[in-house]
Amino acid sequence: MKVFNFGSINIDHIYRVNHFAKPGETLASDNYQMMLGGKGANQSIALARAKVLVQHIGRISFHDEWICRKLQKDGVGVYCLQHVDEPTGHAIIQVSDEGENSILLFGGANKGFTESNLAEYLSNSRPGDWLLMQNECTHTADALRLAKQHKMITALNPAPMTDEIKALPLDLVDYLIVNEIEAEQLADTEGLTRDQPEALLKHLHQHYPKMKLVLTLGSRGVMYKDATQMVFVPAQKVEVVDTTAAGDTFIGYFIQQIITGHDVKTALEVATQASAITVQSLGASASIPTLQQLIDLGAIHA
Ligand code: RIB
Repeated sequence: MKVFNFGSINIDHIYRVNHFAKPGETLASDNYQMMLGGKGANQSIALARAKVLVQHIGRISFHDEWICRKLQKDGVGVYCLQHVDEPTGHAIIQVSDEGENSILLFGGANKGFTESNLAEYLSNSRPGDWLLMQNECTHTADALRLAKQHKMITALNPAPMTDEIKALPLDLVDYLIVNEIEAEQLADTEGLTRDQPEALLKHLHQHYPKMKLVLTLGSRGVMYKDATQMVFVPAQKVEVVDTTAAGDTFIGYFIQQIITGHDVKTALEVATQASAITVQSLGASASIPTLQQLIDLGAIHA
C-alpha cells in the first residue's frame, strides 16, 4: 500500500524572536535557519521516516534541486515532483520564546498544479492506496474526485484553513484531520466554539457520518470520532522549543499506524509521542523523528 501525498513544498526561513513583530515594529532576531518545510513535504518526510511508501506530488523551482535530493535521501518517492520556472513556495516563520510560531506563506510553485497533472500521477495508484492532502496547493477538489475514481482512501488536513475548504466535496474525504480552529470554522455554527471539542466532533459527524474525524487539541491531546467510537488521548508533557510541524508529524505517524493495522487508540498514542519529539527542537522537517527513535523510546514495538 502506498501513500500519494499531494502537498506543498516550502523553503522555511525560521527566526527566533522574543515576541512576534508588531505592526510598524522592526524586530531583531539573533537566530536564523533555512530549512525544507511545507505541510506537504513535512508530512511526506514523516511518512517516509515511519517507513511508509510515499510518493510526493509536488512542484519546485528548477533552481532548488537540493529539495529533490533531500526528499529522496529521506526515502520520499519523487517521480511525481515537477521542476518548474516559478519560485518554490516559502514561509517566513517567527518562533517565540514560548515555542509558538507565526507564519507568513508565499505559495509560489505550489499554486500551479493542473487537473491533468494530477490525473496522470494518480493513474499510477491502485485501489486501497491513500491520497493525502493539505490546503497549500490548488486543485484539491479535482484530486479528491480523481482519488475516488481510483478507489483510493482519502485523508485531508485542511490547513491552513480557508473559505474554499467548505466548498470542497468533503463527502469524498475518509479521514479528516483538523485542529480546534479548523474544526470551529468548518462547523460554522453559531454558539459552537473551539472550546467544545466533543460538541464540534458530534456536529461534524452529523454532517459527514462516514468520515473518520481526528481533532488535535494542542497541549491537551487529541480526540477521534467515527460511527462507532469516540477516543481521547492526552498530550505528553514535554519542554516545547518549536511547535512547527508537530501536526505534520502527527499525521504521518497516525497514517502509518492505521496502514499497518493498528487500532485507532494505538495510532493516536504513537502519533502523539512522535509529535512530542518534534516540538522539542527547532525547525519543521528537521525535527521529525524516525521510526527507530520511536522504537528506542518504547513507543512502537519493532
Ligand atoms: O506545518 C508547518 C509548515 O507550515 C511549515 O513548514 C511551513 O512551510 C508551513 O507550510
